[in-house]
Amino acid sequence: MLKIYKVKNYDEMSKKAATLIAAQVIANPDSVLGLATGSTPVGTYEYLSKWYKESYLDINFEDVKVVNLDEYKGLTRDNDQSYYYFMQDNLFKNINIKAENTHIPNGLEDDEAKACSEYEDIITSLGGVDLQLLGIGGNGHIGFNEPGEVFVKDCHCIELAPETIEANSRFFANKEEVPKKAYTMGIGNIMKAKKIVLLASGKAKANAIKQLLSGKITAQVPASVLQLHHDVTVIADEEALSAVEI
Ligand code: F6R
Repeated sequence: MLKIYKVKNYDEMSKKAATLIAAQVIANPDSVLGLATGSTPVGTYEYLSKWYKESYLDINFEDVKVVNLDEYKGLTRDNDQSYYYFMQDNLFKNINIKAENTHIPNGLEDDEAKACSEYEDIITSLGGVDLQLLGIGGNGHIGFNEPGEVFVKDCHCIELAPETIEANSRFFANKEEVPKKAYTMGIGNIMKAKKIVLLASGKAKANAIKQLLSGKITAQVPASVLQLHHDVTVIADEEALSAVEI
């Protein structure tokens, strides 16, 4: 089942997403959260950090486990564009999560099969994901599952699509500095999550959101597979929803 929250703007999207995550953690303090990086969830993490600090909501991350969607291949952890760095900077350093409970693919592992099978083992050992947060690429990717011929089920190493390199170059000095490969959870890992919350803000996501909500299910638009999941909540702002009528 797919539920849509139409919100005004990025801030409302962020607040709504943070509310759903906080509710998950309050109800199940040992939840496994699947988290995303990129511009989209920054505001969500800001709200969670703020609410944790202000403490009136009593959100306790002590027993929470986090397993992130993806990581660039080849960036060191202290590189401020690595997703390891992003998660520390935007969320983990602000809350009482234990370092040993946070997981992200090992971007420094050169052996792709090893990096992926180790990450599969981590997800399995955690017993799966309770709530998976997703952004969406302008090309419909989720995690770094880029458009392709087939849905790839398990964690894998992907060659980033040219449009993803282009989109993400805004964070790097130039396009050449964007890593060409990344490790990502597969579509099967994402689809196994008990709940999925997908966020989208801005016009650049309008077409991808249209395909997700009403397009045909195809590996050319990886997010379209979410139509088959039993518990998806899409929180999208007016611009991201501007290509659909609801
Ligand atoms: C990031 C991720 C990606 C992003 C997507 C949107 O962990 O998995 O799928 O969610 O590329 O990126 P932003 O939010 O920067 O527009």
